[in-house]
Amino acid sequence: MKKIFRFASVMIMVLMLLAMTGCDKTDNDKIVDTAAVVEDDKEIIPVEDNVSKEEDSATDIEVIDDGTASEAEELTPTEPAEKATSDQITAVIEGGIKDVYEQYGIKAGTCLSDAMITQSKYTDIITENFNSITHENFMKPDYLISKSKSIETGELSVEFTKRTTDLLDWAKSNGMSMRGHVLVWHSQTPDWIFYKNFDKAQGLVDRDTMLTRMESYIKQMFEQLDTLGYADMFYAYDVVNEAINDDGSYRDSLWKQIVGEDFIWYAFSYADKYAPETIKLYYNDYNEQFKTDYIVKLAESLVDDTGRSLIDGIGCQGHLYTGDSIDDYMSMLQAFSATGLDVQITELDVSLGTWQNILKATEENLLAQGQYYYEMVSRIIEENAAGTTNVSGITYWGFVDNLSWRNDRSPLLFDSNLEPKYAYHGARLDYDNAGY
Ligand code: XIL
Repeated sequence: MKKIFRFASVMIMVLMLLAMTGCDKTDNDKIVDTAAVVEDDKEIIPVEDNVSKEEDSATDIEVIDDGTASEAEELTPTEPAEKATSDQITAVIEGGIKDVYEQYGIKAGTCLSDAMITQSKYTDIITENFNSITHENFMKPDYLISKSKSIETGELSVEFTKRTTDLLDWAKSNGMSMRGHVLVWHSQTPDWIFYKNFDKAQGLVDRDTMLTRMESYIKQMFEQLDTLGYADMFYAYDVVNEAINDDGSYRDSLWKQIVGEDFIWYAFSYADKYAPETIKLYYNDYNEQFKTDYIVKLAESLVDDTGRSLIDGIGCQGHLYTGDSIDDYMSMLQAFSATGLDVQITELDVSLGTWQNILKATEENLLAQGQYYYEMVSRIIEENAAGTTNVSGITYWGFVDNLSWRNDRSPLLFDSNLEPKYAYHGARLDYDNAGY
């Protein structure tokens, strides 16, 4: 107890000092209302390079203890949490990110690509820090739907290739849990699946045909995961990804054009029908802090005719910038959690600056990044404990900058020499090394 008061007083002193000096890590005044320019951004950035645009606030400063694991265990969110305070956030000095998050009932994940499983310098980092894996690419429709097999069978056909199973095998032999990513998406999905006889020269199919194809595809996916012996590894699956625009309208994908807006309902309905009970079904998106209410409305509409929910969780990608607002992000997580659904951060990376003004990896900017990760994770843990959020997993979209899809923006936890950045220490809730 004495310890708690010690931390509380240190924290109050730090906060007072900050208030006096106004030394927020970034300057809020520089941030424009980015929500207004989202469309432009989408136009100039390749589809897969979606971006999140937030304002920054992030003034919460936490103090950590070098307490033991057993002390930390006393403070898990599963306890009847009175009121979570910053001083309840303690780091396990031994162990990696997963060991820290485990104390709070949060999974720690990374995406996985084939480059990452070939060298022990990468696999060592993964096994030390993460207990959940998402395939970065090889479970996307582009890599699991076979054109030749579809033409041969006449239905949209799933075929697992070696690239996919190699990664699954690696995850399995390392005791990892899996997040499935992704079934229905406008991107990284072959165009020909939408055409008569799987031939782009023959015109789009009608709604009923597309729904039949969708059902067959989703059914095969879960059947094959089972047959191949992987189904038990999966605890979550992104059923639909990125279907809602920032203004609440539906993205004009071929899924929507052919089936209509209820393609999302059907995707969840089929996934609910064919996925094992143990796999939680997620809607996943980005920029959700700008479209929170629309996503909540969508999630609430995903019920069967008895009123039973077809969706289990909302995934927040979290491709952020150090200039983005953590306050806004937390409000979004609160709103999603208030639906009673599970919530996860599914693709976290924090680039430097803002999406309009990407900053260089200077010492100052890397310090800010470390603080950002620390503040984000510690606030989630606090709010989970207080019952205001329900975040059960944080997956990083990789761990080392040079293998990141945003390798020009230094968004991850290790630098290209595999040295841990402030970001790593921040993500691991090691206050002393997180850049403060
Ligand atoms: C990205 C991968 O990281 C890249 O390697 C690939 O070229 C494009 O897709 N939202 C998602 C992820 O849901 O699947 C995307 O992953 C990043 C944005």
